[in-house]
Amino acid sequence: MTGTRMTGTLDLATLRAEFPILAERPYGKPLVYLDNAATTQKPRAVIDALAAYYEHDNSNVHRGAHCLAERATAAFEDAREKVASLINASREEVIWTRGTTEAINLVAHSYGGDTLKPGDEVVISSLEHHANIVPWQQVCARTGATLKVIPLHPSHNGELDLSRLEDIITERTRILALVQVSNALGVINPVAALIARARAVGAKVLLDGAQAISHFPVDVQALDCDFYAFSAHKLFGPTGVGVLYGRKALLEAMPPWQTGGEMIETVTFEASTWNQLPYKFEAGTPHIGGVIAFGAAIDWLNQQDRAAMAAHEADLLHYATEQARAFPGLKIIGDAPTKIAVLSFLLEGSHPNDVGTLLDQQGVAVRTGHHCTMPLMNALGIPGTVRAAFAPYNTRAEVDQLFAALEKVRRFL
Ligand code: ALA
Repeated sequence: MTGTRMTGTLDLATLRAEFPILAERPYGKPLVYLDNAATTQKPRAVIDALAAYYEHDNSNVHRGAHCLAERATAAFEDAREKVASLINASREEVIWTRGTTEAINLVAHSYGGDTLKPGDEVVISSLEHHANIVPWQQVCARTGATLKVIPLHPSHNGELDLSRLEDIITERTRILALVQVSNALGVINPVAALIARARAVGAKVLLDGAQAISHFPVDVQALDCDFYAFSAHKLFGPTGVGVLYGRKALLEAMPPWQTGGEMIETVTFEASTWNQLPYKFEAGTPHIGGVIAFGAAIDWLNQQDRAAMAAHEADLLHYATEQARAFPGLKIIGDAPTKIAVLSFLLEGSHPNDVGTLLDQQGVAVRTGHHCTMPLMNALGIPGTVRAAFAPYNTRAEVDQLFAALEKVRRFL
């Protein structure tokens, strides 16, 4: 059966068996989980690591004078090393946050708030998630800087229009804040060209890697970015944990964003001094169990054949796109040549939310709506989309189930 066939070295039956939730039967139907861009499911190794922390090691980090605190601290810092190695950074450059959103807010408010002045410009793109728009709007309003937006290509296939890039990223640009892969459409941005332009004018670069990191290897040195933000929960880890990578020299110069315990060196009632990196940006008790379980997710990922996973996802995208093109009344939104395995679409005459509800009743989990990209939806002139987002544990059989369910929706609506 196609659902358990081997793809390269990827044994889908074995892979799927590692994810307990895939055995769920919503409404008595097999779960077809295609909402992986919102969050990926968790392998048993991650679930067990979270439970093991609370069962055996639960303690606060960096401050206890006892064995549990030592074990928790060692595992917590070990996870930081794993992230550093995953993205080719050093451990002081890996800041734990609650997620991508908090990581971007940290850069906007600390770096942006400290350095931007009237006349300066921040450049984002039309594909940004609200999390990479609103913090920059806020900091621009506060500092008098201007927010500029790289428009969509007129073909509206989800690619950016780079024809006027030199007019948008100019000598006045201080920060380019760019999504590496669009969460709403799955389109992969040509970040190398955009970063090269930003470098040419001396601007700093933040990449929102929330969607990219689960689909291809990320090397922050090779990317030549200054900041890179992502979330554990889209990389098979727990929610509530994210990473901000920042170049050490920049992080050293930036003021703390949140203040309190852990991020200080000394405190008097008159003044305080700051802890060394990375702790300067980690005020308060972090999500210790989540960080440790994220370490387990990275271990798990490192044991997988990521090339085979990528090949399988490409096969799923190709297979789903072919069916989509043949499906009556279906319009793919963001039909660009370079995409991760995301199929965003509309069914003629149907609101995406109605389609999503009817798919759900058939066991097919997708996301519908504006995907936290309202300006993108406005630019495309649509209210939202239905988004099927694939992960390596999805199968061709599930693509078939999606389209069989869509056929029922089409007849019903
Ligand atoms: N940003 C996540 C998504 O696109 C939640 O679904």
